[in-house]
Amino acid sequence: MPSDQPREQWASRAGFILAAVGSAVGLGNMWRFSYLTAESGGAAFLVLYVGITLLVGLPVLLAEFALGRGSGKSPIGALAHYGGSGWRPLGWLFVASGFLILSYYSVIAGWTVRYALTALLGSFPEDFGGFFERVATGRSALAWHLGFMVVCVAIVRGGVKAGIERTAVILMPLLFLLVVGLALYAATLEGSGAGYRFYLEVDFDELGDWSVIQAAAGQAFFSLSLGMGCMMTYASYLSRDEHLPNESLFVAFSDFAVAFIAGLAVFPLIFALGLDAEITSGSVGTMGALFITLPKTFAEMGGAGHVVGVLFFVALVVGALTSAISLLEVVTATAVDGLGWSRHRAAALMGALIAVMGIPSALSLKVLGFMDQLAGNVFLVGGALVLSLFVGWRMADPMAEVRRGAESTTWFGLWVWLLRVPVPLVLAVVLVQSLRALLPG
Ligand code: PFF
Repeated sequence: MPSDQPREQWASRAGFILAAVGSAVGLGNMWRFSYLTAESGGAAFLVLYVGITLLVGLPVLLAEFALGRGSGKSPIGALAHYGGSGWRPLGWLFVASGFLILSYYSVIAGWTVRYALTALLGSFPEDFGGFFERVATGRSALAWHLGFMVVCVAIVRGGVKAGIERTAVILMPLLFLLVVGLALYAATLEGSGAGYRFYLEVDFDELGDWSVIQAAAGQAFFSLSLGMGCMMTYASYLSRDEHLPNESLFVAFSDFAVAFIAGLAVFPLIFALGLDAEITSGSVGTMGALFITLPKTFAEMGGAGHVVGVLFFVALVVGALTSAISLLEVVTATAVDGLGWSRHRAAALMGALIAVMGIPSALSLKVLGFMDQLAGNVFLVGGALVLSLFVGWRMADPMAEVRRGAESTTWFGLWVWLLRVPVPLVLAVVLVQSLRALLPG
């Protein structure tokens, strides 16, 4: 039974933008971006990631904003609104991505909370690798994952304005300041030059490497929260008069800026202390790199390291929280819009289901890594493919929605053309490659 309650709206334009930036900026910008950059050879990955963000990510972001605001609905309703009810099943794909991603995202968020508290208490043990393994798997990981989900549910139950918007407006500027402060601090360290070189000097041979292209595409979508209707859902709470192209540019730029600046902190820090070998050869692989090398780095810095360490892990928690609530909002809004559930009930039941789904990831890093590849490289890329084809070919007049609140320019024509041909082509190739890489045989 569809809901007939009036739809909530953001209190202000800034509130919407900060919430969208809050969704985009998260563990993806710091944990995932730095581990993939490290794994994929540094600067080549960065170049591909920027290119794909601009040419593929940005058009899809604008498409999600247009679909969400135009329909005033969460993903399933939005597709049905513009394409007819035959499109509903594809909307379910988006909701499934929300379940999948939040189930393991919350596990990593749980680690970050545990690390932030340990940093605050100044009680990291000597054995950083062992500590990571204890935190990242087993009972501890499970307990913090469940605790984190409880907080997400509490915020999303509060609603769009009082819950999500208020959280983002307070936490996002804080996160930005923390990351910039860290990068500035890293610049003062002796020996950081090698980190900058690794991060910024491009090896042109790697630009054509499929695994790097695939990782960069998955990361572009993951980082911008695209391909699962998250930005669509947030835009569905917008009033009519926003300039959607400008909002898209702002969100994409902020998201890139935080990832880039986080890299300017992480790599110089790691190289300054000679921990680079550990990134690629540690027993937990690159996924644990950030959690092992950075506390070690902070410990070796002495008193300043204590403060920097606390700031870093608090920034991670902040980013994780504002992104996790956006993931939960997608499934909550779907249940509210489509099943007529109350927000309280939807957030609690969906949150509980996701918490249970996250148990295997909390117990095994292998499962978690697999879920992460599956989500980024298959579900989000597949979702973005559906979206670009839908807006490019099925929607009667995609430009009409964008024109509300924005003066028409030739860019709009380019946007539709990108969604029709180049974007789906790139996404289809990446999807096929990703499936081949993930499926056995
Ligand atoms: N963009 C978030 C990050 O970079 O951490 C993760 C994310 C949030 C992905 C919401 C997808 C999504 F719908």
